[in-house]
Amino acid sequence: MQKISKSGILVVFGASGDLTQRKLIPAICSIFQNAELSGNRVLLGVSRTRYTDQDFRYRVSQALANKVSDKKIIVQFTKKVYYQNISFDREEDYEVLKSRIENLCKTTKVVSNVLFYLSTPPNLYYVIPENLARVGLNSEKEGYRRLVIEKPFGIDKKSSCNLNRHLLKDYSESQIFRIDHYLGKEMVQNIIAIRAFNPLFASVWNSNFIDNVQICANESIGVGLRSGYYDQNGAIRDMVQNHLLQLLGLVSMELPKNLDPNLIGLQIFKILNGVRIFKNKEDIKNNVVVAQYSCSQNPNIKESYRNESGVSPSSLTETYVAIRFFIDTVNWAGVPFYLKTGKCLDNSSLSVVVTFRNNISTLPGQKKMNKNRLVIKIQPHESIKLSFYTKKLGTGFVAKDVDLSCDYENIIDFGKKISPYQRLILDALDGNNSLFVSSSTVDSCWKIVDPIIEIIRKENMKNFLHFYPAYSSGPKESDTMLSKLGHSWYDKVSSPIQL
Ligand SMILES: NC(=O)c1ccc[n+]([C@@H]2O[C@H](COP(=O)([O-])OP(=O)(O)OC[C@H]3O[C@@H](n4cnc5c(N)ncnc54)[C@H](OP(=O)(O)O)[C@@H]3O)[C@@H](O)[C@H]2O)c1
Repeated sequence: MQKISKSGILVVFGASGDLTQRKLIPAICSIFQNAELSGNRVLLGVSRTRYTDQDFRYRVSQALANKVSDKKIIVQFTKKVYYQNISFDREEDYEVLKSRIENLCKTTKVVSNVLFYLSTPPNLYYVIPENLARVGLNSEKEGYRRLVIEKPFGIDKKSSCNLNRHLLKDYSESQIFRIDHYLGKEMVQNIIAIRAFNPLFASVWNSNFIDNVQICANESIGVGLRSGYYDQNGAIRDMVQNHLLQLLGLVSMELPKNLDPNLIGLQIFKILNGVRIFKNKEDIKNNVVVAQYSCSQNPNIKESYRNESGVSPSSLTETYVAIRFFIDTVNWAGVPFYLKTGKCLDNSSLSVVVTFRNNISTLPGQKKMNKNRLVIKIQPHESIKLSFYTKKLGTGFVAKDVDLSCDYENIIDFGKKISPYQRLILDALDGNNSLFVSSSTVDSCWKIVDPIIEIIRKENMKNFLHFYPAYSSGPKESDTMLSKLGHSWYDKVSSPIQL
């Protein structure tokens, strides 16, 4: 087996940007702090802004100020941080970058292994790799050269295929790491573990026993500073095409014979190919609700998407989407998979809820019973809850629903939690791309969402777009879609729920 070299340079393009400041810097600092994990590595930030190394180190320490309590760690980390400004589209600047990388290897005695992390506007995912290759920074003669590419990977299947073809001209697939940070979340990984390690669930994970599945990603914040990007893309591209379909894949895939992440990736790809594709306006009307947040009736709440800075006052972009998918495999025949995501909702949470069928007839005189339900909370507090029935104390058989729950906050001996970005960057540094998304899976996801976007646009978005008050639970049309099959959103009704 090839020995993993724990030495090299991590080059972050878009170093002055939001993602770098909020997520990447804290993750990289944690990695560098652990010498055993990181070995000898340095960080080179790259953007257009003219910072000196000193300026950038100051920004880095600001980004860490509220996250790392031990100031010594920040000081040690910033000593390993450097900065280079370039114009991303000027070819000669890449020669400057190449010399800087070579110099850093000499002065800091790191091995010439380079991971390029692209955290820039997506239109630069063409030009940066191409220019790196032009100056030979794709060649792995002296050490590895890898690219981590942030979402979005294309804006539809065609553009994603074009981007892929473009990258593959200069790089091999093993050099490309398409990141979906949801795949690095502890509880997302846990979906596989819960399924695989518990015969209790493994044996009932199919349409004979499962009534419906809900995957909900609620955000209580609006578009904030991302309006420029968001208004062009909307919730379907921003959340469904990547994160939510990956979750759908993890919940519904057939478990591989062993938990080799490469086999898991293959199973996700396979199951996504079984998702029924929407063909026409009727399919969309029956199975998709798109909406936008608008002013609330509460006079204290002024937020409206169309009033956000950078958003057109007549924007038809969806900030909320709920979709009912079916998977055309024997295992999942007839089981609805509800996916929902929205901004400016009344709570922030990410959960997967599996509701089991209730095949048991209730005793005479007894109320209709709820269904057993498994709730996997991914955010904000990681927990697993199983709702089931037991007998009430006393004579007779009176059923009472109770919860068995496991709250990760309160469990000790579970090891140290690491952030999704920390885990994924570490994997990329180690050359392990099994938790990254393959080009074929990206294609499958676009194949599912492209028709939704196309049909809605063709038919005129105005005819489909609903509105919901900011900080509410979303549009009522989404509830209606579920109620037609006798379902309701788990996260909308206080427990216990009558499904
Ligand atoms: N922010 C998030 O939470 C998040 C989450 C998931 C994925 N992403 C993805 O990560 C990437 C970066 O997102 P971000 O939120 O960090 O973006 P951002 O705050 O706008 O930062 C963009 C970075 O790219 C540089 N840049 C270079 N050329 C640019 C140009 N022509 N226009 C604008 N900026 C340019 C900017 O700095 P200079 O002006 O100094 O060059 C800046 O460092 C995007 O592709 C986004 O979709 C972001």
